[in-house]
Amino acid sequence: MLMLSYFVKIKSMPILDRETTYIMRTKNIFPSIEHLPEPNFIKKPLRQVEFLINGIIEKWNGPFEKVYSPVYGVDEEKAVNEIGSYPLLSGCVALKALDAARKAYDSGRGEWPAMSVESRIEHIRRFVIKMKSKREEVVQLLMWEIGKSRKDSEKEFDRTVDYINDTIEALKQLDRISSRFTISQGIIAQVRRAPLGVVLCMGPYNYPLNETFTTLLPALIMGNTVIFKPPKMGVLLHKPLLDAFAESFPAGVINTVYGDGQEVIAPLMESGFVDVLAFIGSSKVADILKKQHPKPHRMKSILGLEAKNPAIILPDADMDQAINECVTGALSYNGQRCTALKILFVHDSVYDDFVGRFKDEVEKLKVGLPWDKDVQITPLPEPGKTEYLDSLVNDATEKGAKLLNNYKEKSDFSFFFPAIVSGVKSNMRLYHEEQFGPVIPIVKYSNLDEPLEYVVNSNYGQQASIFGENTSEIARLVDTLVNQVCRVNINSQCQRGPDELPFTGRKDSAEGTLSVSDALRVFSIRTLVALKETAGNKEILTDILKENRSTFLSTDFIF
Ligand code: G3H
Repeated sequence: MLMLSYFVKIKSMPILDRETTYIMRTKNIFPSIEHLPEPNFIKKPLRQVEFLINGIIEKWNGPFEKVYSPVYGVDEEKAVNEIGSYPLLSGCVALKALDAARKAYDSGRGEWPAMSVESRIEHIRRFVIKMKSKREEVVQLLMWEIGKSRKDSEKEFDRTVDYINDTIEALKQLDRISSRFTISQGIIAQVRRAPLGVVLCMGPYNYPLNETFTTLLPALIMGNTVIFKPPKMGVLLHKPLLDAFAESFPAGVINTVYGDGQEVIAPLMESGFVDVLAFIGSSKVADILKKQHPKPHRMKSILGLEAKNPAIILPDADMDQAINECVTGALSYNGQRCTALKILFVHDSVYDDFVGRFKDEVEKLKVGLPWDKDVQITPLPEPGKTEYLDSLVNDATEKGAKLLNNYKEKSDFSFFFPAIVSGVKSNMRLYHEEQFGPVIPIVKYSNLDEPLEYVVNSNYGQQASIFGENTSEIARLVDTLVNQVCRVNINSQCQRGPDELPFTGRKDSAEGTLSVSDALRVFSIRTLVALKETAGNKEILTDILKENRSTFLSTDFIF
C-alpha cells in the first residue's frame, strides 16, 4: 500500500510554470500566497536539524531532505510548496541509534526493561501530558505535510492520545491478572509478560502519528527500547514531540532516525540486532527488510500491509445506507486508508440505481484545502500519485469500463477529484491493484459466487463489507468471508476502530494482530518463574514477596 517509493528517492515537486499556474488559479483550488493561513510554512519553512539519540537531541550538519506540501501557494509568477526540511542521516548515525537502544536494553538488564510496570506507566503518563500540549502544532503539520483535513487531523491526534491512555489501562489490567500465582501439579508459578528487546518502528504516511504510535507506545510500555523512523511524508509533524520523548524516558529508550531507507534502515537490519520489526507499509518492502536480517527467525514482525477491501451490495440493501457508507468508506481522506473500500460489487438488479445515486453523492463532496470548513476531498501528498491514478482509469476505460464523471475537469496537479469507474472486469488493473486514492471501481455481478471468488483469489485478506437485509444470504457470505478476511462488516464500511477490536489481515495484508490489548501481547513474551511446592521453596518465595526483593516476582496490585 504505502512506501512503494521506500528505496526510490522521492522527486521534488516542481515549481509550476505560468500555464499550469493559470489553470490552477482558474480552478480556484490553490490560493495565492498571501491568502494562505497562519502558520504559513511556505513563507517560513520548518528546518528540522534535530534528531534524538541516547537521550540527547543532537544537531545534524550533513545533507537534508526538502519537504514539499501537497498544498501550493500561488502568486503572479509561480506556485511554491516547499515547507521545510529534515536530516538525511547517515548509516553511521543510524548505527549509533541502534547502539543506544541496545545499551538501554542491555539484554533486559537496563533500567527501562527492568523497571516495574507502575514506574513505566508513570513515564508514559508524563509523555502524554507533554504531547497534549503540542496538539495544535502537530495538527498544523498534518494538514500541511499530508493534506489531511483539520477535522481528520484533530481526530488522528485525539485518537492517538486516547489509544495511549487506553493502553495504560489495558496494561494495568494485564498486570493485575499477572500478579497472582498458580499452583498446578505441585508446581507454583507466576507468569508475566516480558519485553523482547530492540524494536524498529516504521509507520505509514496516511496515519503518520496514529499508526506509528499504535506500535511505538505499546512497544515502549512493555519495556522494549525503540528506534523510530517516521514515514517519508509526515516527518516534520513529529518534531514538536522530540523534547517530550527526550524528557520523558531514560537515555536510549527512544531514538529517532530520518533519511533514505537504504542508507539508514539496511544497516540496522543487517546488524541482526533488531528484535522486532513493526512496519506499516507495502509487503514488497517488508519482504526486503526481513531478508536483510541475518537471522530472520530471531526477529518478530508486526506488519500492516496492503488491502483491497470489497463491498458487496445485495439486491435488498438499504440503498441510502449502502451509498452513504460506500462513499465515506471509499473516500475518507481521499481513499488513502488501508481499510478503505477499494472495489464495489453491486448486484445487477440494483446496479443502475446504485451507480446513479452513488455518483450524485460523490459529486456533492466538498473539495478544498485541509483547513477549509467541512472539506472532504483534499490534495494528495504522494509525488506521481495523480498520474498513477490516471493510468488506472485509462487502463480500465481502454478495456471497456465506463468513466462516470469528468473528474479531470475538477482535478489539478496534487488535487484529484474522485473518479468513478463502472463495468470494471478482471482484466483491468483497477480490479486487482490497490489504488490507495480517490478512484472507485464498480463491478456488476449476478451471482454471489463472483464477489466470493474475487475475495478467494485476491492477494489480500483484510476486511469486507456486506450490504443487505436477507439474513440467509448475509449468513452465507459471513461464513465464507470470515475464513478469507479478518473482519466482516455488515451494513457498514470497513474500518480499524474501535481500537479495542483486533486489527489484522490474511495473505499479503498483515502479520500479527493489533488492538489496544493485543499490541501489549505482540511486543512481549510470556515468561514464568516456577518452583516445586516444597516447604523450603515456599519460604524462599514468601521472603522475596514480603521484602519486595523482586520486580518480576511480586503480588503488588496496580490500582
Ligand atoms: O490505513 C489504515 C488505518 O489503520 C485505517 O484506520 O479505519 O480507522 O481509518 P481507520
